[in-house]
Amino acid sequence: MNILLLGSGGRESAFAWKISQSELCSKLIIAPGNGGTAAYGKNVVLNPNNFEAVKALVLKENIELVVVGPEEPLVNGIHDFFTADEALSQIPVIGPKKEGAILEGSKDFSKQFMARHNIPTPGSRSFTNETLEQGLAYLENHSLPIVLKADGLAAGKGVLICETVADAQEELKLMLGGKFGQAGALVVIEEYLTGIELSVFVLTDGDNYVILPEAKDYKKIGMGDSGLNTGGMGSVSPVPFADEKFLKEVEQSIIIPTINGLKKDNIDYTGFIFFGLFKVGDKPMIIEYNCRMGDPETESVIPRIENDIVELFLAVSQKKLKDYNLKISKKNAATVMIVAGGYPGEYEKGKSISGIDNVRQSIVFHAGTALEGGIVKTNGGRVIAVTSLQDGQFEALQSATADAARIYFDGKYFREDIGFDLM
Ligand code: AMP
Ligand code: GLY
Repeated sequence: MNILLLGSGGRESAFAWKISQSELCSKLIIAPGNGGTAAYGKNVVLNPNNFEAVKALVLKENIELVVVGPEEPLVNGIHDFFTADEALSQIPVIGPKKEGAILEGSKDFSKQFMARHNIPTPGSRSFTNETLEQGLAYLENHSLPIVLKADGLAAGKGVLICETVADAQEELKLMLGGKFGQAGALVVIEEYLTGIELSVFVLTDGDNYVILPEAKDYKKIGMGDSGLNTGGMGSVSPVPFADEKFLKEVEQSIIIPTINGLKKDNIDYTGFIFFGLFKVGDKPMIIEYNCRMGDPETESVIPRIENDIVELFLAVSQKKLKDYNLKISKKNAATVMIVAGGYPGEYEKGKSISGIDNVRQSIVFHAGTALEGGIVKTNGGRVIAVTSLQDGQFEALQSATADAARIYFDGKYFREDIGFDLM
């Protein structure tokens, strides 16, 4: 079967690695891919948001299955584009249509969805420019800190946590004034949760679902979770504080009501749902949905899946997940992300990367890299994810960290403490 994978990050490297191991895969194209994905298939330069270009590629390469990595094409309606096109309508797409992707594309929509289906989430209200005065008044009596969220996609930067009412009022004005462009034309003001975060993932065919391994992502740039937020500096799976009882509770109070809610709302959803959760005391609460897998969570989740992933994707597209027997490795995965100096602020690209061959006990998933004349160079902020899968969590953390130290480029940085707080 000929498969097209859209995207270019560490998440897509992990997907490509796994898809290329499938006996069902005869050809894998990654568009646009990165400096590492060419090892698993063929890279084709293309913007996944250019649907006509995707169509041309699909027809040229006789693609029979499309897997969408990032959220943007989904929120922009790539799945709908396929369904509506005579030449493409029979080709399965892993990833929801617009009406499902809006769970990530609009925080206001997702909060209303959670409220409508009694899914536990912090209290919130939404405001626009027309209701700015009410918003400012609402903030006057709000508990501290205050969470402000731009409604739309803001490249991971649309969430602000304000320590004072005055700050929150100032930020509300700035956001509604265009600080995040159209994404901030509607702002969700949300109660702040105190607890510990984790990510839970399901893959659904619209009727049934499988729960994938959970993961914990480390978002801050600095050791000990300090400094600026990033796209993610590392991840672990499984998550020790998410025991069986807690995960059952997640399924009962969050996953099942979400799947049933989609059905009640007539949203036909095929693809991944990423639940951004907090463990508050011993109860789960949801702070966000994403319509895709997480990055760098995928790099820890995928190596723990023992099934043929193409077979799993086909079960999704044929609505046959009901009796699917998902096999999850008991091993522990740890991922350490190596980033460019300066990231998440300004950073340089084009640095030669060495030492990848010295990695001993880990899988190297390229993220922001490019191949230039046979040399792997940096091409983004998050450059390489190093994932180790070991019997024990400590060994996994240790070997991923040790292997991250074996890779070198000018300005490289990684957190040496990923996951050790959980031990
Ligand atoms: P997001 O962009 O929605 O992933 O949010 C970015 C980060 O903001 C999350 O990973 C949390 O650490 C934090 N955050 C979002 N909502 C809340 C909340 N209600 N309470 C506390 N922290 C939050
Ligand atoms: N690692 C968080 C995300 O992918 O949104």
